[in-house]
Amino acid sequence: MSLNIVPFVSVDNMMKLVLHLGPERVMTEIAAYIEADFKRWESFDKTPRVASHSDVGVIELMPTSDGEMYGFKYVNGHPKNTKEGLQTVTAFGLLAEVDTGYPILLTEMTILTALRTAAMSALAAKHLAPKGATTMAMIGNGAQAEFQALAFKAICGVSHVRLYDLDPTATAKCSRNLAGSGLQVTSCKSAEEAMEGAGIITTCTADKQLATILTDNMVGSGVHINAVGGDCPGKTELHKDILLRSQIFVEYPPQTRIEGEIQQLDPDHPVTELWQVMTGAATGRSDPRQITLFDSVGFAIEDFSALRYIHDQLETLPYSEPLDMIADPDDPRDLYGMLLRAQAKAA
Ligand SMILES: NC(=O)c1ccc[n+]([C@@H]2O[C@H](COP(=O)([O-])OP(=O)(O)OC[C@H]3O[C@@H](n4cnc5c(N)ncnc54)[C@H](O)[C@@H]3O)[C@@H](O)[C@H]2O)c1
Repeated sequence: MSLNIVPFVSVDNMMKLVLHLGPERVMTEIAAYIEADFKRWESFDKTPRVASHSDVGVIELMPTSDGEMYGFKYVNGHPKNTKEGLQTVTAFGLLAEVDTGYPILLTEMTILTALRTAAMSALAAKHLAPKGATTMAMIGNGAQAEFQALAFKAICGVSHVRLYDLDPTATAKCSRNLAGSGLQVTSCKSAEEAMEGAGIITTCTADKQLATILTDNMVGSGVHINAVGGDCPGKTELHKDILLRSQIFVEYPPQTRIEGEIQQLDPDHPVTELWQVMTGAATGRSDPRQITLFDSVGFAIEDFSALRYIHDQLETLPYSEPLDMIADPDDPRDLYGMLLRAQAKAA
């Protein structure tokens, strides 16, 4: 394909690609791409994402580069959207070649964000969760939920998920979608009930406030908490006292201190960077009784890894269409002449 034609992955093609390979395989492979990129953390440009806040939500740009490729994602977060028939989170993203600055992939990323978020959560849990944890509580059963459940099944060996959502129709939807997945699924009437016997607790709710999905007395020792829904200033899920009892693991501290659960703590509260756990430079879980907490907010390198993964899949799979996105004048400096020739042709 010539450089002015950019492969575009529509929602339809993303669904075909994911269904062709299978969602569990895709998330396992994306997790491997993320782990490979986290292990070369120092080769990336890093910046907290650029967030534009309003009273009802946030719109964010998430850029990074490894010197060879550059990627960014556009993503929103609007908890009130579902009441209007719209999704809380939608996204698209782009991968470009650093050498020319030309884009090499444009893709939907609403589905891809769900896949990469779940892949990242399960990857963190692979390093942090207590050994032999096969039951996961899932609080918040919206758009992300099934992806989380399947990633934990494929990557961490979770076999039983216990669901709870404020809205029982969300739990019913999630339970229905997971039927036939091989997971044992239990629908629960409270967060406390969902947490019974769970070695892993995933919170994946959407509310634009400092919410308290988990209070301190609900969380016993020896569990791993995967906190996904607290990802914006003023938008958290865990009571501060849980944080004070936990060993906290983060993606990129300068961003997580603004957006994560740890916005509730002192700015110098100790946290461990996950990339260091992956390289062996830092310790993950050090005691079976410890509470480990992945304070997930979503970092640009994870999207870069997901974009790189999709780009590599397109070498052998047909799930893209050519997009006439970059102007291509015969003489690169004669951009205006190209316009005039098009006008003459149309006349
Ligand atoms: N960390 C990351 O990388 C990352 C990535 C994507 C999305 N997110 C965040 O994850 C969250 C979930 O995203 P989604 O697309 O599934 O949202 P969604 O709106 O589709 O689902 C959220 C669910 O949470 C439920 N909920 C709200 N308050 C609750 C409460 N107090 N107790 C129990 N359930 C409650 C809602 O009823 C809804 O079913 C959002 O906050 C989103 O911003 C984080």
